[in-house]
Amino acid sequence: MVHNRINKLLVVGLGLIGGSVALAARRAGFAAEYLGVDLAQDERQGALTLGVVDRASESLAELVPEADLLVLAVPVLAMQPVLQAIKPLLKPTAVITDVGSCKAVVLDAATAVFGQLPPRFVLGHPIAGAEKSGVLAARVELFERRKVILTPAPDNDPQALELVRQLWTACGAEVLEMDVTQHDQVLARTSHLPHLLAFSLVDTLARRDERLDIFRYAAGGFRDFTRVAASDPVMWRDIFLANRDATLDALDEFLNGVQRLKSAVESRDAEALVSIFTRAKSARDYFTALLNETGYQTMQNKRINFVTQPGGGPVAGQIRVPGDKSISHRSIMLGALATGITRVKGFLEGEDALATLQTFRDLGVLIEGPHNGEVTIHGVGIKGLKQPQGPLYLGNSGTSMRLLAGILAAQSFDTELTGDASLSKRPMGRVADPLRLMGAEIETAEGGRPPLKIKGGQKLKGITYDLPMASAQVKSCLLLAGLWAEGETRVTEPAPTRDHTERMLQGFGYPVFKQGATAAVQGGGELTACDIDIPADISSATFFMVAAAISPGSDLTLEHVGINPTRDGVINILRLMGADLTLSNQREVGGEPVADIRVRYAPLKGIDIPEDQVPLAIDEFPALFIAAACAEGTTRLRGAEELRVKESDRIQVMADGLLALGVDCTVVDDGIDIQGKGNETNVFGSASLQCHHDHRIAMSFAVAGLRASGSITIEDCATVNTSFPGFAELARSVGLKLDAISG
Ligand code: S3P
Repeated sequence: MVHNRINKLLVVGLGLIGGSVALAARRAGFAAEYLGVDLAQDERQGALTLGVVDRASESLAELVPEADLLVLAVPVLAMQPVLQAIKPLLKPTAVITDVGSCKAVVLDAATAVFGQLPPRFVLGHPIAGAEKSGVLAARVELFERRKVILTPAPDNDPQALELVRQLWTACGAEVLEMDVTQHDQVLARTSHLPHLLAFSLVDTLARRDERLDIFRYAAGGFRDFTRVAASDPVMWRDIFLANRDATLDALDEFLNGVQRLKSAVESRDAEALVSIFTRAKSARDYFTALLNETGYQTMQNKRINFVTQPGGGPVAGQIRVPGDKSISHRSIMLGALATGITRVKGFLEGEDALATLQTFRDLGVLIEGPHNGEVTIHGVGIKGLKQPQGPLYLGNSGTSMRLLAGILAAQSFDTELTGDASLSKRPMGRVADPLRLMGAEIETAEGGRPPLKIKGGQKLKGITYDLPMASAQVKSCLLLAGLWAEGETRVTEPAPTRDHTERMLQGFGYPVFKQGATAAVQGGGELTACDIDIPADISSATFFMVAAAISPGSDLTLEHVGINPTRDGVINILRLMGADLTLSNQREVGGEPVADIRVRYAPLKGIDIPEDQVPLAIDEFPALFIAAACAEGTTRLRGAEELRVKESDRIQVMADGLLALGVDCTVVDDGIDIQGKGNETNVFGSASLQCHHDHRIAMSFAVAGLRASGSITIEDCATVNTSFPGFAELARSVGLKLDAISG
């Protein structure tokens, strides 16, 4: 809604917050005139001198009758007398809001004065401030990119609410809504408690050393921890008195936490200490990512576009891409369930694998790292998982959700699995249905979509199951559930799919019976910790294989790539198309075959992709479509309907992008025909494309930039972080002209 400039904005209380509201509103041209009331002569004078307000008075009676919007910026305990005083003076159309840090006390004050909250009084709280106070500290940018919480009541007038929203938006803030109780509980923990602790620590130290000598030796830690102890004592006295109950609850929780630490130190319980610190560190790292907006969850709100420029290539160098995603997930899962300590090297620090890692921390497992790809998992044994505090959020990661469903279906406690918008659309019936056959109790949302609500305490029994689709995730889910099931769980797949679960179970000393297309486990065994060296992910290497294969003059070596025969479809398909790929230094690392892959440019030709290669290259097709567009003749893909239920409908989204870039293609239900333009220097034109938050689509079109006549923009690429952090930098280092631009 477009804001209609109001006539007069009155700030009652010309301090830091009140003054900053007036300055920011004035900069945005929110009102025609700005008025201020304050009892203190110097605040009024300061406000006039700084141009915060046009007129100032000590008398509410003088200015309230003129005001269209009143911002009450007085201490929370002064709210009731102020409301009492303004009540007879208000214009009937006037809208009121406040900036108090506690909302129940303001609601109570308004109810006491007016009999109920007036419909045109919208309670609010800007989460901004500084240790300084007074109007001289006011800053026009104080609320920029800060949050303002409104706590509207059901019978608040919608127009009044809208006006208050517009005020804060005009000040540059992001406006959120929650109810009064939740606001006070949240703020007690995130703001009031830290202030109380900072005041307390400084006071405790100051009492011990009245000359304050100790502060001479205090370095950064003390400074960071206690900055807020320099805040206004009277204001904070009022806040603790006003939000007494919620603060006491938060303080009790905190005291329990301190007591736990004290006991751990007393009893020299090193494991408990590292467990508490690790959990805290991971929470703080997450918070840092939120603050710096580097995590995918915040990036969803932030736009990262990939922009390619023509003239990139040849692609040359020797690189190692990040660790295998599938193996990274499984290393955490099996490491957590094993007895003993599992040390992992080469772990993928992408958001999907980190979602699995965080989940196992939530399930009570102590996990150190990741630090430079190293993770140490203190396994809790097959019966050691603990009930998490709340729903387990798996972000964009289908592998986490499907494999965890198998593990959690067998636990004694209830769990709920949720995900982001893309994951929430993906089919989970494929795991829920066979798990139910095993005796699990699982509720899904409509159409078998997430969230999954899994009931604990169910006795599972082994089943014999023919997978209706070639899916390693479904196979793995059932084999993992089979660890707790009575008898044997036997799964037969219609075509070979990645077998990392089977290999890794064996690596952890758990027997897996394999016969042809069938894998089976017997329930009731144990896993023993082991060390895992994760190879580079062939799915991530694919973008660079294709880049070198389509860019004349290229010569690129990819080191230490996993070439498990259930994942090597991309090598076979590229070779069939005429690509020059050589494998060297082949060896086995921790039960997985690895090699260095050298790719030199050679002209490609279109092929009919053998259907038996489809499950072996299932994640590589978006990039292979780019290779097909650069090949001479038509490439035909069939039997690939699974591509339609990945992070996006990869057949349709790729076809849309190819067509926009001037490459002819025809979509069928289970595949696509792509008319290659191999003999043309510029295969692709210039366009702005959507990747539908699909990491692999984003990276594939980034590679297409090597053979494009103009610039290609791929919008909303933040999800690349789920599987390939650092992709754009690595791509640039080998010759791609690619920028990741945040918007
Ligand atoms: C995976 C299996 C595949 C793959 C996914 C990872 C795994 O999914 O596409 O990226 O780690 O088991 P499906 O099982 O759905 O084919």
